[in-house]
Amino acid sequence: MKVEVITSSWDVVRTVVSAEGIGTMLFHRLFILDPTLLSFFKFSTSFDFHSLSKDFAAPNRDLFESEGFLNHARIVVGAIDMLVKNLRDLGKCLEILTELGERHKEYGITIPNYDALGVALINTLKAGLGDQFGGKEEESWTWLWGIIKATMTKMY
Ligand code: HEM
Repeated sequence: MKVEVITSSWDVVRTVVSAEGIGTMLFHRLFILDPTLLSFFKFSTSFDFHSLSKDFAAPNRDLFESEGFLNHARIVVGAIDMLVKNLRDLGKCLEILTELGERHKEYGITIPNYDALGVALINTLKAGLGDQFGGKEEESWTWLWGIIKATMTKMY
């Protein structure tokens, strides 16, 4: 049941929004929740986080259209694509996520940072799907986020 709900809602979002668009929605929401996270990224070195736009319809072009940001956005959305395609057999994905989690620990990413990204993900899906994002979508994506977070932080 969760697998079908996640797959069909992700298909809808991926049809209407590009990978870069989803990445922008996701990381804009994350940076609003915690602007200090910007300082972790190489692409944000010349960006003053006090000037982060609070308007999701008008993300800062210098940040969100930079090649560094777009590359990272494509990678993260690609990782979610990979998980959604392999929901029935997550074995190999979990190995990849574990290695990714080890590197993120080295980057200095903490468990509360993952919680913030989980909130940003749900808010992104709500914004992308509108009325099509209901209780069962929220429950299913919260379940998947729980797996991602637990796997990426199991070495903490
Ligand atoms: C709050 C949570 C997260 C933060 C703050 C974060 C931050 C970062 C940072 C700082 C980098 C290095 C990029 C650079 O040098 O500019 C990175 C790389 C990367 N992130 Fe994240 N990340 C988070 C969660 C995730 C999640 C959930 C995924 C995928 C499921 C992911 C996938 C990647 C990938 C694939 C890379 C490329 C480099 C590598 O493989 O280590 N990240 N992230």
